[in-house]
Amino acid sequence: MPESPAVHHLFIAGRWVESVSGNTFESDNPADTRDVVGRFQAGTAADVAMAITAADTALPAWKATPAPKRGELLYRFGALMAEHKERLARAMTREMGKVLAEARGDVQEGIDIAFLMAGEGRRMFGDTVPSELPDKWAMSIRQPVGVAGIVTPWNFPIAIPCWKMMPALVTGNTVVFKPSSDAPHCATLLVELMDEAGFPPGVVNLVTGSGREVGDAIVESPDVRIISFTGSSATGRTIAERAGRRLKRLSLELGGKNAVVVLRDADLDLAVDGILWSAFGTTGQRCTACSRVIVDRHVVNDLVARLAQRTTALRLGSGLDESVDVGPLVNAAAADKVQRYVAIGRREGELVTGGERATGPGLEHGHFFAPTIFAGVRPMATIAQEEIFGPVLSVVPVDGYAEAMAAANGVRYGLSASVYTRDVNTAFRAMRDFETGIVYVNAGTTGAETHLPFGGWKDTGNGHREAGHVALDTFTEWKSIYVDFSGKLQRAQIDNQPS
Ligand code: UN1
Repeated sequence: MPESPAVHHLFIAGRWVESVSGNTFESDNPADTRDVVGRFQAGTAADVAMAITAADTALPAWKATPAPKRGELLYRFGALMAEHKERLARAMTREMGKVLAEARGDVQEGIDIAFLMAGEGRRMFGDTVPSELPDKWAMSIRQPVGVAGIVTPWNFPIAIPCWKMMPALVTGNTVVFKPSSDAPHCATLLVELMDEAGFPPGVVNLVTGSGREVGDAIVESPDVRIISFTGSSATGRTIAERAGRRLKRLSLELGGKNAVVVLRDADLDLAVDGILWSAFGTTGQRCTACSRVIVDRHVVNDLVARLAQRTTALRLGSGLDESVDVGPLVNAAAADKVQRYVAIGRREGELVTGGERATGPGLEHGHFFAPTIFAGVRPMATIAQEEIFGPVLSVVPVDGYAEAMAAANGVRYGLSASVYTRDVNTAFRAMRDFETGIVYVNAGTTGAETHLPFGGWKDTGNGHREAGHVALDTFTEWKSIYVDFSGKLQRAQIDNQPS
């Protein structure tokens, strides 16, 4: 008999507690669903209310803690993540399936943002500017927004919560964290380390459970002043409507339909490396995944042949096996969705490789799907327009730069884009012309670093950015301060005008 899985708890006001619902749900290993990772509390609106009260109660003291001191806790947390990197990475692979090398990268991204934001504790710049009047001082400072609702996906289960929580915390907000129900174990391990790092009780609260119960309660609460969400455009839109009615601040990171543009003069081998890494890494389940290759007709046959050859050689299996290239999809619903798009793709393009669930020894109990390529896809085809979030790549042939750019920009998303060319003028033109928040030259569409802004144009988001120092904008209110030391009334825009 397998051991019964460990039962994990909510973290509210510095204590690990059961949900008032008395219910739990399971998280299992997508590479082998017989392996249950653990049982987690099915949180309710009542649990969320307690978490918000805890966050609200902790807020005054946390806000009053000098920012450099808050930063020191972030630093300690980052160091703990570094110490536990391997354990976290293995837990991640087991829970959501990405291969170990990528899971280590995910944890590293969490460490990087913790250290970056720890430093912000000693920067957090505002402006000090001259006043237009004599004997008057003018400056702006940042202050926390309040209680932050952090709602995160399973595909970067350490990195994304850290992208959100680190800037929220260093700027003095307190947090209610709702992770995806496909990665509650990663979230639990993360919060355990935050507790160990010494964040005061109530500063970070964890409530696992469904979007409908836990997510809704966070979105609807008038006491949660800012919400940061990463996930589907459909859910993002619903949250935005509801948050909008409450004039609640909202940072959204949603879908992508990212293109690699391969021009006639490109280094094709280099392009193939970048395309494979971007399209099939994390089994295509990244917002930044490349799902379209837009390629000049002069080189399309050559490129497709090279891609096909390399793709069929990819090894599928459990990501814990270091020789595996591609892990499973996260759950059965994801596999069904990919299957539905592949059926559409069979009508819209020519299937080059893949196109079905992957079977064979070691794959029987997981959600495996063969990396799939369609060639001859038109720019407006469904599979070239909609986010699939799986290992499905569409090759779109075009004639020349202008057509390539029109196709690349002809989608409702705008997260990431890449161009392969050896011509410096063309590279600069593409850097200017892509309608995306992130652009790569001679590299794939993934690989964002934590000290630059991360986010997208158009339906990918609502104009906010994560990571980089601009992440502070999401979690702070600006306060402009004027100090008049002239000892008399001085009227701006009036007393300094020629009479
Ligand atoms: C995401 O897919 O949601 O650039 C985040 C990248 C990673 C982050 C992706 N560093 O692909």
